Amino acid sequence: MSLKNQSDSYGSVAKWLHWLIALLFLGSYITVYSRQWFTEEETPENWITLQLHLSIGVTIGVLVILRIIWRLASPPPKLEPGPPLQHFAAHAGHLLLYIVMVITPLTGYMGTGTNTDYLFLFEIPKFESTRIFTSLVQDRLGISFEQFEKPVDFIHKEVLGEWLVWILILGHVMAALYHHYIRRDRTLIRMTLTRKL
Ligand code: HEM
Ligand code: HEM
Repeated sequence: MSLKNQSDSYGSVAKWLHWLIALLFLGSYITVYSRQWFTEEETPENWITLQLHLSIGVTIGVLVILRIIWRLASPPPKLEPGPPLQHFAAHAGHLLLYIVMVITPLTGYMGTGTNTDYLFLFEIPKFESTRIFTSLVQDRLGISFEQFEKPVDFIHKEVLGEWLVWILILGHVMAALYHHYIRRDRTLIRMTLTRKL
């Protein structure tokens, strides 16, 4: 399997980034809902699950930037043959997935009023403590962190985390299964890590 994408298959870098990010998405949901459903406020478990959510989210943010750079350097394979409307839906779905992969970690980071203790190894300062926040949001827009946090949190939790991300991923997985079991083309196979294509 080559590192770069070929005209008819994904290379190993794109595949690993795809599945690693997919796994981290699952991790970000498991951690945040474990916190909300199974831990009491002000307990160590409550703090640990929050910090794991933040660490996983930041990791997704960094990997997505690398993934986009890699995609620009190594364009993806052509879609498997199909009607134009299906190709349009696939391109639109992938674009939307990239958009939410950028905006979800970004809004998470910008709306969080606590530092990220990254995997309990080192601290990443919260957005409120950065010069970007002070000069751009506070000084230029005249908005306090409390005012800024509300809409950003709403987008992160209510719009993206609870709805849009689910809908997009569900549609994406259904499309992959449709290709594999109904159209019986190579769409899913060429994204799997084990097959040599
Ligand atoms: C792709 C990455 C991410 C995903 C999919 C994600 C998803 C979610 C979801 C589903 C929730 C719960 C929404 C609810 O209350 O029902 C949430 C809450 C939250 N997220 Fe994220 N998030 C991501 C990245 C981040 C990042 C990078 C940060 C900050 C560095 C962050 C900070 C938070 C905080 C502080 C909460 C509230 C936690 C709570 O109230 O228990 N998230 N996120
Ligand atoms: C079990 C879960 C998943 C399955 C079965 C799956 C399957 C696939 C397949 C088969 C492709 C190749 C499509 C093609 O060649 O036209 C693909 C591409 C893609 N997937 Fe997934 N995926 C999953 C989870 C995710 C998740 C969680 C995300 C992001 C949140 C995601 C984002 C993407 C993106 C952006 C592409 C386009 C890659 C590119 O061409 O640059 N996938 N996925």
